[in-house]
Amino acid sequence: MANTIIKFSGVNKRYGETMALKQIDFELEQGKFYTLLGPSGCGKTTILRILAGFTDASAGTIEFKGKKINDLPANKRKVNTVFQDYALFPHLNVFDNVAFGLALKKTAKKVIQEKVLEALRLVQLSGFGDREISELSGGQQQRVAIARAIVNEPEVLLLDEPLSALDAKLRTQMQVELRQLQQRLGITFVFVTHDQGEALAMSDEIFVMNDGEILQQGDPVDIYDEPINHFVADFIGESNIIKGRMIADYQVEILGHQFECADAGMRPNEPVEVVLRPEDLVLTSLEKSKLTVTVDTQVFRGDIYEIMSHDAVGNEWLIHSVRKSEVGQQVGIYFEPEDIHVMRFGESEEDFDARLESYEGDDDEEV
Ligand SMILES: Nc1ncnc2c1ncn2[C@@H]1O[C@H](COP(=O)(O)OP(=O)(O)O)[C@@H](O)[C@H]1O
Ligand SMILES: [Mg+2]
Repeated sequence: MANTIIKFSGVNKRYGETMALKQIDFELEQGKFYTLLGPSGCGKTTILRILAGFTDASAGTIEFKGKKINDLPANKRKVNTVFQDYALFPHLNVFDNVAFGLALKKTAKKVIQEKVLEALRLVQLSGFGDREISELSGGQQQRVAIARAIVNEPEVLLLDEPLSALDAKLRTQMQVELRQLQQRLGITFVFVTHDQGEALAMSDEIFVMNDGEILQQGDPVDIYDEPINHFVADFIGESNIIKGRMIADYQVEILGHQFECADAGMRPNEPVEVVLRPEDLVLTSLEKSKLTVTVDTQVFRGDIYEIMSHDAVGNEWLIHSVRKSEVGQQVGIYFEPEDIHVMRFGESEEDFDARLESYEGDDDEEV
């Protein structure tokens, strides 16, 4: 990679019997927004702590710009962290909170003044220097925590679930602001969340994690459209996941029917799982349909009807429909070949990437 800033090779972390991280390998490029996404306990914070130098890896190497930093103390790394609980000093005002680290390093007063004001400006808190922390809203406290980290001019900023304490509306606003801040600063962000919507909205690259492992790395569209396995498909967005069989390249069988699809490179008759996203399913008349389901519940969500239904063998189907239907009614579902995404059981990320590469080639055209 051209501008690698951070590299993890074979990183493990053991806490007694717990393997918090198993064989973590990744490279981060300068100036990109990365997100570690996964359920609670999957090892996200542990990766950040190892990166920041707050804890040691049990095995493996951590490099910063090509130099091994396993033994470099936290305060010598060009990495700063914004913690989940902000960890602000309640007895200091906004200015002194942001200035704290610089003051510790005995930075000249004038320099501190300039840097703190600039950091406050960047997080849109100009004029708030004299405020007490207790006088700030949750969103403003969040901004102070970010200012306190960026005032040190880190090359990598780590953010551990920084938005989880905010209400939904403020959260969305802060997502946009953080993304803009990252682009203005041009530094690498490593952002941690368990919220898939947040990850999709903010990131250049997402690492989907589970149980101490990275299951899939990719940009938001790839992760959403081409999840590697059941866990990722289920975790990222809403999915219908149905068992099927790959008949041949571009031909899959589900529920006894054969459908054209966009996937290839599997064994003939290989058992597979098939993902169909609720927004790709279109309600249609029984004659035009590819599958028939019976409607169990229907909830109006403003932009769509959220329909839960089941097929003849009892699989549940979630449909996001712009058209209304009736509970108890039999309806047809229509979908296009490219709406079908086929997943193999137990395929490694390397094999998965290589297989997609082999038939998608470089036709990465935008429509
Ligand atoms: N200091 C610790 N001592 C023992 N186990 C820990 C410690 N920190 C984390 N763990 C364990 O390591 C695993 C990963 O934790 P963590 O990285 O905090 O997950 P996440 O941030 O994704 O919720 C969990 O099983 C957790 O219980
Ligand atoms: Mg955590």
